[in-house]
Amino acid sequence: MRKNIVAGNWKMNTTLQEGVKLATEVNDALKSRTPNCDVIICVPFTHLASVKAAIDDSKLGLGAENCADKAKGAFTGEVSGAMVASTGAKYVILGHSERRQYYHETSEILKEKVALAFENGLTPIFCIGEVLEERENGTYFDVVKKQVEDALFHLSADDFKKIILAYEPVWAIGTGKTATADQAEEIHAFIRKTIADKYGNDVAEEISILYGGSCKPSNAKEIFSKTNVDGGLIGGAALKAEDFMGIVDAF
Ligand code: PGA
Repeated sequence: MRKNIVAGNWKMNTTLQEGVKLATEVNDALKSRTPNCDVIICVPFTHLASVKAAIDDSKLGLGAENCADKAKGAFTGEVSGAMVASTGAKYVILGHSERRQYYHETSEILKEKVALAFENGLTPIFCIGEVLEERENGTYFDVVKKQVEDALFHLSADDFKKIILAYEPVWAIGTGKTATADQAEEIHAFIRKTIADKYGNDVAEEISILYGGSCKPSNAKEIFSKTNVDGGLIGGAALKAEDFMGIVDAF
């Protein structure tokens, strides 16, 4: 059975002190609940070790927002998968549209990152999604399929099963414009079918596919109620413990 997951993506927000405070608030809120989903926060590199020390990671998973496409060495400013893992983090977001768009991450680069995440025992939260033009001209199925094929379909079934997928339509990220629950279900079902065609139904049924893009406490319940939506990757609403927990409570 695939897992329900709510994961926060803090992006480039919060100072270290603010981040530890926010993580502590989420952690404390989780203590008084038995959520029907796994809960993960993905935080800036600088916060990982301190947040790890501040939370109870049996309840709250910790991840990074990126890692390097090289294992180690003379790559000034980069942070490796091994470094991320050494903080105690267990997850890493890869292929976020902001990384693809602003830092020119291609499927070739993402393949390397996925391999290094696995080598270091990290679970990739792998993002895919189309831009507005592709939504409007109807090519979004092809775009999303190609993103999955190009970066992930070289993996063995056993490795593929370790991935968490996040469908994030770029036009819905941080815009306040959410995909409708039916739009999310349509593409999530398509993604699962694409996986089933390659790896078989059993593998496809094990993959959690999260929705991301202006997900809030007010719309999470309807989106998460869809058969092929297994949770959310949450940006803006992950920056306030109350909003984030409102989304966790949607399950
Ligand atoms: P948002 O971001 O919830 O602020 O739209 C989601 C994401 O980019 O992961």
